[in-house]
Amino acid sequence: MPPLRERESVAQVELHSLHLRDRVDVPDWILSEQERHRAAAFRSAEARRLFVAGRFLCRRILGDLLGCAPQALSIAITQSGRPYLSDFSDIDFNISHVRDRVALAICRGGLIGIDIERVDAFSEEEAGEIMPMILSEYEFDQVRQLDGQYRRDALLARWVQKEAALKCLGRGFLADPRCVTLSPDYATFGSKSQLSSEPIFINSGRVGDGEIGDFQWAIATSRLVTEPQWRHHINGISL
Ligand SMILES: CC(C)(COP(=O)(O)OP(=O)(O)OC[C@H]1O[C@@H](n2cnc3c(N)ncnc32)[C@H](O)[C@@H]1OP(=O)(O)O)[C@@H](O)C(=O)NCCC(=O)NCCS
Repeated sequence: MPPLRERESVAQVELHSLHLRDRVDVPDWILSEQERHRAAAFRSAEARRLFVAGRFLCRRILGDLLGCAPQALSIAITQSGRPYLSDFSDIDFNISHVRDRVALAICRGGLIGIDIERVDAFSEEEAGEIMPMILSEYEFDQVRQLDGQYRRDALLARWVQKEAALKCLGRGFLADPRCVTLSPDYATFGSKSQLSSEPIFINSGRVGDGEIGDFQWAIATSRLVTEPQWRHHINGISL
């Protein structure tokens, strides 16, 4: 993918995913001291590995992009847990992880949130229980009319889109996902949420291959963006 370039009307995004192979040790030497302390505090080895992998991926990619050493990047965290680059206000990034995969979204000239979930994150039966917690009344009525797998897929897509939007806003699930409503607008969705007076733009889809499996993804941005392309790292980033 060509390097990010400033354009007037649309923001530029890059999407990266890292697949963690079994037993591969993710190096933590490029993490800050604070991040290493945080990693050490995880009780679950899997959660620790995902956190370290997320910071490893973003420090490596952002370091390359910004022309600085990965360990020199200053990553701060807002009160609600949203990480950001304290020295580069025009570059935003966001991380999502699930099982053996870490995703990183980078945006120049706007805010970004990303969410990924496995396509088998929940069953058709579980979908019925989750729907009222995620969907607005109007969305609930629409999705409820779908059958089995279609209903589950529609819910998963909405879930991931809404979580990406709430992460873009920096709130996460401190805010109620039912307050974020998505309206169809050709390839993207505009979201006029009760949490923000500005629209949020959504791009979403599914990616995967035989080896790494399918996952549902969504990014939410504060500005329109060019069509996002994924760059998958399995062996491409040395671990
Ligand atoms: C944001 C949130 C939805 C992410 O849920 P999750 O199941 O961990 O999902 P993901 O894997 O997709 O995302 C995790 C990443 O989101 C990012 N993140 C965390 N809080 C965030 C926020 N408020 N806004 C945007 N991004 C956030 C972090 O990079 C995190 O990864 P890291 O901790 O390894 O750096 C969830 O953490 C949440 O609702 N947070 C609300 C705020 C909160 O509870 N804060 C308490 C701690 S300060």
